[in-house]
Amino acid sequence: MSGLLRLGVLLSGSGTNLQALIDTIAAGTLGARITVVISNEPAAQGLVRATQHGIPTVLVPHGAFATRTEFDAKLVEVLRAHDVELVVLAGFMRLVTPVLLGAFPSRVLNIHPALLPAFPGLHAERQALAYGARVTGVTVHFVDEHADHGPIIVQIAVPVLPGDDEARLHARLQRQEHRAYARAIQLIAEGRVRIDGRRVHIDGAAANADDTLASPAFPVPRA
Ligand code: GRF
Repeated sequence: MSGLLRLGVLLSGSGTNLQALIDTIAAGTLGARITVVISNEPAAQGLVRATQHGIPTVLVPHGAFATRTEFDAKLVEVLRAHDVELVVLAGFMRLVTPVLLGAFPSRVLNIHPALLPAFPGLHAERQALAYGARVTGVTVHFVDEHADHGPIIVQIAVPVLPGDDEARLHARLQRQEHRAYARAIQLIAEGRVRIDGRRVHIDGAAANADDTLASPAFPVPRA
């Protein structure tokens, strides 16, 4: 088998982030392979997407388990059976427990549609609009025992525009989610990511020091 990083994707819904990973892998710009897609929701569109691309799917309905730890133990069993190295939460609407985190230490990722620690939890777009934020964004982070909390790998800032509603802002954020997730996973696949407490060091990758996003935009004086 090749040296491609083996991913297990966990989802509950539409799976556009899964689709973006599938497309990026197909385009040859992400050195990874999705060995299984797991959903807790039987109607998740993400299961259909996976099947259309020949990726094995497993349904693990959370309601069939008495406790979250029993549910997570089943997830671990399925992930191990598919030789998963990196667990990718992509719209997975369940809180994970130490059972999953202990089985894949520093090997569980999540994506969130805000610049954490701003607007954690559900309805991040609604929260950003209600707060009147002018810049929000997306965050890819390692998962720890607290929701939307672990060390941050990639963030992309996105402006909130006049006339935005939740759907419009969500669509703009999702385009960046799809870039951010592939980028974060590629950095891990290349062995360039190291966690140091809350901070994540990435070999040979940094932001451009003068990059900014002003919202509203205003002219930058030319030097
Ligand atoms: C994304 O917005 C992600 O940030 C959040 O759940 C959503 C999943 O979207 N965690 P999709 O199912 O990948 O389209």
